Amino acid sequence: MKTLVLDKTQINVAAELLKNGGVVGIPTETVYGLAADALNGEAVAKIFKAKGRPMDNPLIVHIADFGDIDRFGLVETIPESARLLAKHFWPGPLTMIMKRTDVIPNEVSAGLDTVAIRFPSHPVAQEIIRAANTPLAAPSANLSGSPSPTTARHVLNDMDGKIDAVLDGGASEVGVESTVITLAAGVPRVLRPGGVTVEELRGVLGEVEVDDAVLHQLKEGVAAASPGMKYKHYAPKANVILLKGADDEYIEYVNARAGDDVCALCCDEDLLSLKVKTVSLGRRGDYLTHARHLFDCLRGIDENKTVLTVYSRLPSTEGVGLAVYNRLIRAAGFEVIDLEKV
Ligand code: TXA
Ligand code: MG
Repeated sequence: MKTLVLDKTQINVAAELLKNGGVVGIPTETVYGLAADALNGEAVAKIFKAKGRPMDNPLIVHIADFGDIDRFGLVETIPESARLLAKHFWPGPLTMIMKRTDVIPNEVSAGLDTVAIRFPSHPVAQEIIRAANTPLAAPSANLSGSPSPTTARHVLNDMDGKIDAVLDGGASEVGVESTVITLAAGVPRVLRPGGVTVEELRGVLGEVEVDDAVLHQLKEGVAAASPGMKYKHYAPKANVILLKGADDEYIEYVNARAGDDVCALCCDEDLLSLKVKTVSLGRRGDYLTHARHLFDCLRGIDENKTVLTVYSRLPSTEGVGLAVYNRLIRAAGFEVIDLEKV
């Protein structure tokens, strides 16, 4: 299959492909999505094939107006908490899980009785959804297990020849996937941290829980609330190792292991002191910038075939830092070295 590369003047081409059951890479403010008509099970099945995604991992349904939830009859009843959150954070990097109706094909919900819904803020994403006149199911547009794509080039690197088209809408602003919160039962619970922070969610709803799988590896045999959390994720081919400790201890540890096959994923302030290859996420403490650069940095490291080991500091769990922490700890397969103990 030839993959077309479209620009912002070709939204209608993308919409036509989608209406006809095609799969198109689309820009969103978080990461690029691999979109298909969410109400067409056959079209959605093609997404799983292109990504090599396990069929038991459900997809997010993207809408272009809060009213689309009722217009397309996606959920049984909209919880009050969803209306409140939508007022504050939609359109934007927040996905809400609610009880679904039978309108949602099995391919989208992967057998669950819920559906994840997001109203993205990216103007191109909104225009494509409106032009296609249907909600779009879209996971991140990477091969399953690889870092998510934040540019059209990243999408092509993974999907060229496997999908109908990708629409280039520039680099994604947020850089990590949306925050996923379930409102389907009991106290609202964050299943995946993202651009909307836990602190912000608590500011609106009061009590909000954070699922165990956000910070820790799931124990053998425990069912994942969000099936995506159980898979090895975001991993570059090089081995990522996280180091916990003070700045100077980190520099000393990495420099003692200097070599051609070593790279440090670091902050701007570390660049002069490190004696190995470096890739910087941005200024220390600037978590928004770290999030924006994370996946591009991980993909860039992979393009350098000599790098076998990547050392990074264990990120902070504050604000959007929690999203970076959550992705990096998975990229590292939960391997953390405590520098106080070495
Ligand atoms: O920012 C984003 O959310 C991007 C853009 C394209 O919108 N999409 C994205 O999709 O990251 P994906 O499929 O890569 O991640 C969706 C996550 C997965 O971990 C999946 O298991 C979870 O959301 N999920 C989807 N529907 C769910 C449901 N009904 N219940 C629990 N978890 C669900
Ligand atoms: Mg993904």
